[in-house]
Amino acid sequence: MSAQAQPSRMDGTISVVPTGAALGADIVGYDMRQPPTEEQLAVIEQAWADHLVLRFRGNPGLTGEQLIRFSSALGPLDKRPVKGSLRGGTNDLPLEINVISNIVVDGKPIGGLGAGEAEWHSDMTYKDVPPKASCLYSLEIPPSGGGTSFVNMYKAYDDLPPELKRRVEGLRCVHDASINSTGELREGYVAVNDPRQTIGAIHSVVKVHPVTGRKCLFLGRRRNAYLVGLPLEESEALLDTLWAHATRPEARWTQVWQVGDAILWDNRCTMHQRDAFDSASRRLMYRTQIGERLAA
Ligand code: OGA
Ligand code: MN
Repeated sequence: MSAQAQPSRMDGTISVVPTGAALGADIVGYDMRQPPTEEQLAVIEQAWADHLVLRFRGNPGLTGEQLIRFSSALGPLDKRPVKGSLRGGTNDLPLEINVISNIVVDGKPIGGLGAGEAEWHSDMTYKDVPPKASCLYSLEIPPSGGGTSFVNMYKAYDDLPPELKRRVEGLRCVHDASINSTGELREGYVAVNDPRQTIGAIHSVVKVHPVTGRKCLFLGRRRNAYLVGLPLEESEALLDTLWAHATRPEARWTQVWQVGDAILWDNRCTMHQRDAFDSASRRLMYRTQIGERLAA
């Protein structure tokens, strides 16, 4: 453990310090107010491929523009839907910034996800091409709770018993579009009671990461998931097994937030979960979402 707590790689100004858990590393010595240099970006991208989730600690007071400039070094940014317009002064933020917050202004939340638990998920896997990454930056945090945990989905695949590896190879899963990670029904969807009726993208259960070439499990979210072509009970039982395996404590790392932390996660090979916190306290995060660079 102590060997892993040392910087694993130095590049003059920035270094990579692994958490020692199944995933995650700190990038130390990089000032997020500046766009990364080519050398810094190379270190960041390599560390990201190796550790899946990166933390940039000690960057208080970042503006939305600075977060956008950093994030867009990693790929094209998605924009928030205009119809879900932000409130409480956050409407002035660029469209590349999404607000995650429980703060209520004039009776309306200024951002998404509230104060409840957000169940294990990868983001927007109900789309055929889900985002490759998100960067979440903390401006205000509650005194306790509201931590964000991540699991390593390469490890989920690698650690499967051989017969389960064989069983999941070639299986495809429907990823439900109707419910978000806090369990709310999305606008325009009807509640699904039978997973065989689930509407959403269909993805292979085993995916090959486009950058690392490594295999990972790709589960998305548990609710209403269905393994295409299997009897319902068989699909439910196998999914329960895979989910319990993927979210084992030894595959996790938990981010305990400080103001001025930014967390960059790879949405293709990790899942995340957010703990509930006291709704009387305030949590305010800016979030960017990075899409895949699609071939022209
Ligand atoms: C998200 C998300 C977790 C958190 O932004 O996609 O799941 O800790 N957030 O707010
Ligand atoms: Mn999420």
